[in-house]
Amino acid sequence: METLSTLAYLVSAVCFIMALRGLSGPDTAQKGVTFGIAGMAIAIVTTLLMVESWSLIIFGVVIGGAIGTVIAKKIDMTDLPQLVAAFHSLVGLAAVFVAAAAFYNPESFGIGLPGDIHTSSLIEMSLGLAIGAITFTGSVIAFGKLQGIVSGKPVTYPSQHAINAGLGGLMIFLIFMLCATQSVFFFWTLVLLAFLLGVLIIIPIGGADMPVIVSMLNSYSGWAAAGIGFTLQNNLLIITGALVGASGAILSYIMCKAMNRSFISVILGGFGGEQASGATDHGDRQAKIGSAEDAAFIMRNASKVIIVPGYGMAVAQAQHVVKELADTLKAEGVEVSYAIHPVAGRMPGHMNVLLAEANVPYEDVHELEDINRDFAQADVAYVIGANDITNPAAKNDSSSPIYGMPVLDVERAKTVLFVKRSMGSGYAGIDNPLFYADNTYMLLDDAKKMTENIVKSFE
Ligand code: TAP
Repeated sequence: METLSTLAYLVSAVCFIMALRGLSGPDTAQKGVTFGIAGMAIAIVTTLLMVESWSLIIFGVVIGGAIGTVIAKKIDMTDLPQLVAAFHSLVGLAAVFVAAAAFYNPESFGIGLPGDIHTSSLIEMSLGLAIGAITFTGSVIAFGKLQGIVSGKPVTYPSQHAINAGLGGLMIFLIFMLCATQSVFFFWTLVLLAFLLGVLIIIPIGGADMPVIVSMLNSYSGWAAAGIGFTLQNNLLIITGALVGASGAILSYIMCKAMNRSFISVILGGFGGEQASGATDHGDRQAKIGSAEDAAFIMRNASKVIIVPGYGMAVAQAQHVVKELADTLKAEGVEVSYAIHPVAGRMPGHMNVLLAEANVPYEDVHELEDINRDFAQADVAYVIGANDITNPAAKNDSSSPIYGMPVLDVERAKTVLFVKRSMGSGYAGIDNPLFYADNTYMLLDDAKKMTENIVKSFE
């Protein structure tokens, strides 16, 4: 039976690896999801066949499944980052509970007797416990910040990094003492300190960096799960935990690179709360305000239009009407493509998911590095609910907080149409000088409403 289950777990692990591979591109994503489902189904069935009593498991699956289904149905796409943070906190808490169960009842885990637990198991358990506890409170704070319950501004105080480093050092000492004495006191002191460190690591991180932090916490939750895997002696949990841990870390790195931020500076925090820093002086220049009819006229006479979606398109759920606009333009003989910035929206792949939902053909969707040079030949850049990802301050204002982030060169198109509700700033809280450029028209309305009106104007 053990050989069979090991074999089934191996198949399941291969499925998870294939799932990650498939999810790396939109055309293979569906296959990736199928592999993921198959891997998880094999893992669950194998685990169920190995346990003696199913009643408690079924009870948990029914309750958890019901709560999960309700949340998944209710949640808005734009609230996904905080949902992910909330779920990560549960993984962290589960790691703490499993470690506590193993510590108090080691015989049932096959890792020794109370007060005489094998040292290797104690090390694995305390690492899973510490990472799990940090993940729990860190994710709760991240959830609070993203949901607006806790201030999104970075909370900083003197000697912050030294205090965190000191706490980290103290935790290593406690792990050592726990392994040496197996004392209940060291176990729970370690939990409390890890809870505190989780809070202190996340509070200095500002709103703009929160998505990176969610991905980093995702990575932590993976390592915590791998830690539980060692305690439970479950190879598949170790493998999947490591896959989640590694992919979360790689994703955090990719996001930092796309924002031109170093991972260390994100972790050390303090960015993203500053409002209106890097504000631009527009002199007497007034922004030109356009209407849906103006936009329809300009686009009808264009031969090449590039659509640049951003966070506002997600908020307005305007992706379907954007596709309708693109189809209308194509029917008029206009060439239409979409330019996707790697950090447009609030989570990786946010725009790709929305455009795929609206059945926009993949071949029309281009990444920043592939399409940036095409703006110079475009007649119109239709920027819908995007702001920071087009801000030229990232290229030419070294005092700007987004300086160095690669941006879409929309200003090189003959005409730039900005659809947003006001002249206000985007996520980084900074002014966009493009709103006042000679070739820009501001279309001030909700993204969906304005695009619907443009489509109507074509009729
Ligand atoms: P933003 O710079 O946040 O701009 C979005 C704009 O959409 C806002 O200026 C807002 O202006 C407008 N808007 C909001 N609701 C709207 C609605 N219903 N209709 C029309 N417009 C609406 O977004 P972006 O350009 O997509 O850039 C993303 C930002 O998030 C970057 O700063 C990026 O660094 C940050 N970030 C993203 C990620 C990932 S992974 N995507 C990760 C970390 C950080 P009004 O209020 O005037 O309408």
